[in-house]
Amino acid sequence: MERASHAVLGDINPELVNVYRCVRDRPMHLIAELDHHKRHHCPDYYYWVRQQHQLTEPVARAARLLYLNKTCYNGLYRENSRGQFNVPVGRYKNPAICDPDLLQSASNLLQGTDLDEFSFTTVLDWPLSSQDFVYFDPPYHPISSTSCFTSYNRYGFTTQDQMRLAEVFAKLAGLGVRVMLSNSDCDFIRDLYRGFNIHSIQAARAINSQARGRGKISELLITSY
Ligand SMILES: C[S@@+](CC[C@H](N)C(=O)[O-])C[C@H]1O[C@@H](n2cnc3c(N)ncnc32)[C@H](O)[C@@H]1O
Repeated sequence: MERASHAVLGDINPELVNVYRCVRDRPMHLIAELDHHKRHHCPDYYYWVRQQHQLTEPVARAARLLYLNKTCYNGLYRENSRGQFNVPVGRYKNPAICDPDLLQSASNLLQGTDLDEFSFTTVLDWPLSSQDFVYFDPPYHPISSTSCFTSYNRYGFTTQDQMRLAEVFAKLAGLGVRVMLSNSDCDFIRDLYRGFNIHSIQAARAINSQARGRGKISELLITSY
């Protein structure tokens, strides 16, 4: 596949953007910090690390988030209203806390990529044309009352946000930009993107409070082209 001449990756969550920046710029330092967490991992250590909200050094913050993500309950990312990660420890025999080869490959791929903190509406301010491709990977619209997991960060992602995102998608498509978006397979999302190409795909998902909701589930991949 041809590499884009210039790529920008963005998210509203500054902690996630910091992780991507550390993977891109300081993979060896990040691997060393993760290895330290791996050697000390146990439930008491997990809750001690979870309390460390005040870390300022970027690699220490990134390693903390990755460590908690790999060892927490179901790999959830959820924050309380103060922006603090609040998921309990998971029960894994051998969690993949540090994969040096994977982190180094991801770092190589991210070289030359801009990583920024911004909301999806910002994309409309960019001078995009038919030469450009935009992919949106938003919080998924809940498909049932038990799958309502949209609070990745303290702002949440509401039904109105889904509608605003669909407007942004349609505006970009109107400019000729090739736009792609993933979301849950439900009538609300199918209606929002009516007129675009809607593909059902089978995706493996571990994030579900009920065992029968895990495994392969149908999701939507929507394209403007
Ligand atoms: C399904 S996750 C995708 C994560 C990301 N693609 C990755 O693989 O690391 C949805 C993401 O949407 C982000 N998000 C929530 N509201 C947003 C907004 N208004 N603008 C941009 N990103 C937002 C969340 O922080 C979360 O990381």
